Amino acid sequence: MKSIKHKIFRVAFGRDYSPSQDKQVTVRELLYYLWKRGGWSFLRGLFLRHRFKECGGRLLIGKSVNILFPKYISLGKNVALGDYTYVNGFSQEGLRLGNNVRIREHGWIQATSTLENPGKGLVILDNTYIGPRCIIGAGGGITIGSNVTTGAGVELLAEDHMFSDAKLPINEQGVARKGIVIEDDVWIGNRVIVLDGVRVSRGAVIGAGSIVTKDVPPDTIVAGNPARVIGQRDSSLRAADPFSPLPGDLDARS
Ligand SMILES: CC(C)(COP(=O)(O)OP(=O)(O)OC[C@H]1O[C@@H](n2cnc3c(N)ncnc32)[C@H](O)[C@@H]1OP(=O)(O)O)[C@@H](O)C(=O)NCCC(=O)NCCS
Repeated sequence: MKSIKHKIFRVAFGRDYSPSQDKQVTVRELLYYLWKRGGWSFLRGLFLRHRFKECGGRLLIGKSVNILFPKYISLGKNVALGDYTYVNGFSQEGLRLGNNVRIREHGWIQATSTLENPGKGLVILDNTYIGPRCIIGAGGGITIGSNVTTGAGVELLAEDHMFSDAKLPINEQGVARKGIVIEDDVWIGNRVIVLDGVRVSRGAVIGAGSIVTKDVPPDTIVAGNPARVIGQRDSSLRAADPFSPLPGDLDARS
């Protein structure tokens, strides 16, 4: 028979409470911790969830979160949008955040700068963590796989201004869009910039402060400006998983 503490823990975190040391939190401490970590965010989520196109379960919305066009946004369960985050859903295909996706504080996410020219949209698959102060411009479409972790201040820029005509101001020449794909199980360090047209393949690691201008092969470690290969992960250590989609299947899943 599980104690009330274990039950609360399971509901809150979706896993069993298994402390690795003798020191354990009391029920009171656990409830206090949960309230401090997300009490108001949980209540805001309850209140606002019906505004979205879909919401699969618990939703946490931090303070001063600014959400435009929520009917273009589909959410899985356990999605969290951190304090002061801006999300504009207006786009051709909308925005989809999978289960357990967390966008940390001060995020900025949009696919469309002007209403006359909607961008493609954004898909983020399950268990992906986007660190604070992200900038995700998904004009050309961005797909981020599952179990991806990004550090603070990461920028994914799936759009360029065109500038070939020197007689016209750049801001009157329109935009070019290709799209960005970040496959499953990628780690992107703090303050990385990924430019339009880039595909970061499964298992890759991108060092802090890098500017990624070209595709990154699977399990490859890149760093620098422009990012260059500095190492390789041992992909033979990864257990063969017949159910794990191949990188090429990512687009089909999204
Ligand atoms: C990339 C990283 C993971 C280290 O990978 P690694 O394989 O252990 O690399 P090493 O430390 O052995 O460095 C290999 C070479 O790459 C260089 N290098 C490592 N990280 C670099 C970076 N971010 N930018 C530029 N060069 C880098 C090293 O100077 C070294 O160069 P050298 O061979 O000329 O001496 C780490 O440097 C990094 O950037 N971590 C991100 C930290 C972060 O953002 N944390 C936030 C938490 S989400």
